[in-house]
Amino acid sequence: MNLILLGPPGAGKGTQAKRLADKYNIIQLSTGEMLRAAVKEGSEIGRKAKAAMDAGGLVSDEIVIGIIADRIDQPDCANGYILDGFPRTLAQAAALETLLAEKKREINAVINIKVDDDAMIERISGRYACAKCGAGYHDVYLKPAKAGVCDTCAGTEFTRRADDNPETVRSRLMAYYRETAPLIGFYFAKGKLRNVDGMATIDQVTREIEGVLAKI
Ligand code: AP5
Repeated sequence: MNLILLGPPGAGKGTQAKRLADKYNIIQLSTGEMLRAAVKEGSEIGRKAKAAMDAGGLVSDEIVIGIIADRIDQPDCANGYILDGFPRTLAQAAALETLLAEKKREINAVINIKVDDDAMIERISGRYACAKCGAGYHDVYLKPAKAGVCDTCAGTEFTRRADDNPETVRSRLMAYYRETAPLIGFYFAKGKLRNVDGMATIDQVTREIEGVLAKI
């Protein structure tokens, strides 16, 4: 099964992608995570991507299409994958169509997680992750069972993303409305779009997506 998760910054794409990857034994491919890793290791791709990411803009289509083209060819993607944060422009969507046609594969569904603009800002400003294993949390909506201790690895150090500040979040939101929101119409016209209510709790959103996937 090959899926795309669409939605604005903070909609819950990463949170849901991790759960779906576990449940359906498919791979989460987050271009955001891959780009952050490239920035951290100081690779050429990371150096090129950093300025756009820091400003809340989009990294060039050429770079992200190259990353995804390489990644979906890896053996661990044979059983399927969840594209989390890709495609983000119509050019990326067109390139993905070409890549999949060459491999005689297809996208089974595009899950569009719908949330209010105010909620995105609140979710992003409360988000943090375990510095050791990367497990994600939220100051209000997803706290570790024991305060200050990661549920997954018992780590006690946590980090916040550099682009999760109010100014950059507004630029990311602008980039979403300008470049990514047109993909909703693109995939609706292809009969692939499935909307889910991202304002529900994390567990309810997971159940709604599972219900959608049971019907495809
Ligand atoms: P990326 O990492 O993809 O960031 P994003 O799209 O802005 O999405 P986020 O990771 O911020 O949010 P999310 O929807 O995954 O929400 P999450 O599950 O964490 O991209 C970063 C940057 O990389 C981009 O700005 C761009 O520069 C570049 N980039 C990446 N891909 C690119 C591409 N294809 N082309 C060009 N450039 C690209 O949830 C957020 C918080 O809310 C968490 O704390 C979570 O616990 C909480 N939460 C989640 N769901 C709920 C819920 N239902 N109720 C309450 N709280 C919830």
